[in-house]
Amino acid sequence: MKKLLILILALAMISSAFVGCSAKATTDIGIVLPTKEEPRWVQDEARFNALLESSDYSAEILFSQGDPAKEKQNVETLLSKGIKVLIITPQDGKAAGAAVEAAKAEGVTVISYDRLVTDTDAVDYYATFNSVSVGEAQAQYLVDSLKGETKQNLYLYAGAATDNNAFLFFEGAWNVLQPKIADGTFVVKNSSKAVEYKDVAVLDRTQMSEIIGQITTDWKPEVAKAKAESHITAAPPSGKTFILAPNDGTARTLYDQYSKEPGLEIYITGQDAEKPSIQYVIDGKQNMTVLKDVRDLVKGALGIAIDVLDGNAVETNGSYDNGKINVPAKDIAVITVTQDNVKETIIDSGYYDASEFTGLK
Ligand code: BGC
Repeated sequence: MKKLLILILALAMISSAFVGCSAKATTDIGIVLPTKEEPRWVQDEARFNALLESSDYSAEILFSQGDPAKEKQNVETLLSKGIKVLIITPQDGKAAGAAVEAAKAEGVTVISYDRLVTDTDAVDYYATFNSVSVGEAQAQYLVDSLKGETKQNLYLYAGAATDNNAFLFFEGAWNVLQPKIADGTFVVKNSSKAVEYKDVAVLDRTQMSEIIGQITTDWKPEVAKAKAESHITAAPPSGKTFILAPNDGTARTLYDQYSKEPGLEIYITGQDAEKPSIQYVIDGKQNMTVLKDVRDLVKGALGIAIDVLDGNAVETNGSYDNGKINVPAKDIAVITVTQDNVKETIIDSGYYDASEFTGLK
């Protein structure tokens, strides 16, 4: 009896040791996202988790909460878990250089996700939406809302100067707006630098930095609100008011602020198709948003990661200059969403469920 017990015990120990061995001891893919404070990135997390469910590779997602130091720590944590691929959205494109260089030094493949890590050669791939076309779509909406009038009030806002995307979005917007600013169709009310450069069709990085320096929201709704307050005081809007808002989070605050002024007819852009902004579009508050289908971006980034892990060649369809090298990219198209097509682009496409909104027609 005693012998039998010992035998059972020994078998149990062997089998538990075996289970311990066969369980994934390491993490294959490390994913670092910038912040949980914006619905945009929480959605990326959810879409990653949904796709990872059907993958044989293990992954872990960490958030940096807007702090480059925390981001570096996150990368170190993931490296200690033996990751082979790092997917990272930098909080600050340049500051993230050190973190990705540390990963590269350990033989990890680095994929910049949505935002480009700049000024380093330690980035292997870039999975991104076509950000220039996002800015172009926003500006095109404003231009298409003109009814032949001239001298229309235009207020410009941009993203964070530490985010390379802010430059790409602005470049796209400028491509479309500049001729209309130069010919007097639009009058920029809140950036002396944009006025100074109104005849420059293609801005260089320094000129763009000067404009963005004046109109940055830092991607923070509270900064957008404070800027709007001071712009409204300094150059009071009246009648038709055109607002280039860089993303949905800032668009909603900017709309809320400008709409306090009596008698305005506001035309305002956005991007990300965040749920609260879809509701704003349905309600006729925010006029447009740009659907950057996160399912496609996640599929693109994980597709690269899995090709690398499987030892397959990675297919790319673009390339982006990060200040040091040209990074091969998976470049993903975007869709303009307005009140007219919100049902078809957002609901019928299965992006969100109709039950999450009110007033849908
Ligand atoms: C992203 C946008 C986002 C913004 C603020 C950008 O880099 O491309 O989708 O709204 O950051 O987080």
